[in-house]
Amino acid sequence: MLIPRPETETIIEIIKQKSESGNFLDIGTGSGCIAISLLKEKIFSTGVAIDISRESLFIANQNKLKFQIENLEFKQLDFLNENINQTFNCIVSNPPYIPPEEMKSLKDGVIKFEPEIALTDFSDGLSFYRKIAIDGKKLLNPNGFIILETGGENQIIQVKQIFLDQNYIVIIHKDQNGENRFLEITPK
Ligand SMILES: C[S@@+](CC[C@H](N)C(=O)[O-])C[C@H]1O[C@@H](n2cnc3c(N)ncnc32)[C@H](O)[C@@H]1O
Repeated sequence: MLIPRPETETIIEIIKQKSESGNFLDIGTGSGCIAISLLKEKIFSTGVAIDISRESLFIANQNKLKFQIENLEFKQLDFLNENINQTFNCIVSNPPYIPPEEMKSLKDGVIKFEPEIALTDFSDGLSFYRKIAIDGKKLLNPNGFIILETGGENQIIQVKQIFLDQNYIVIIHKDQNGENRFLEITPK
């Protein structure tokens, strides 16, 4: 997503409250807004931000230069089909979570200005969560954690169950509108 939404700011607040340090992985960085904020606010010292889209990474890199961010590495990578050989203190992601059949009901402002690949996984909206649940334990350092944005009330219970099934501890956080939207996930 190239136009950051206010809900995503809450991700930064949730991570800030955990007062972490070390490094992070941002999956589907888009404009780079999450990764850049985490480094700008000195919540982590280094980060890796991945995206499948070369166009997104071009914009993210422009933002990185604009905000004079150091220690942020961008990688063009298809998270659903490629592996990452590094470990992190935190994995953060606002992945494409809209099922294709719900794309038609999106507001014009979203559908007109965002590429489809930023919005939908072309499956059931849960592909990225399933992959993060499977890969998470090998990508996290000891005491590492995962913070995820979801589609909100209708989807979050399904996403929570995916992580419970893989033996994680899951806490739900609300967005600015009081809607259940974010998950804080730690391996048991
Ligand atoms: C909802 S946007 C989130 C953008 C940004 N992180 C934010 O919160 O505003 C999802 C991003 O995931 C990227 N993406 C889609 N499929 C991907 C894949 N298979 N691997 C990596 N990134 C992918 C899209 O290009 C898009 O930038």
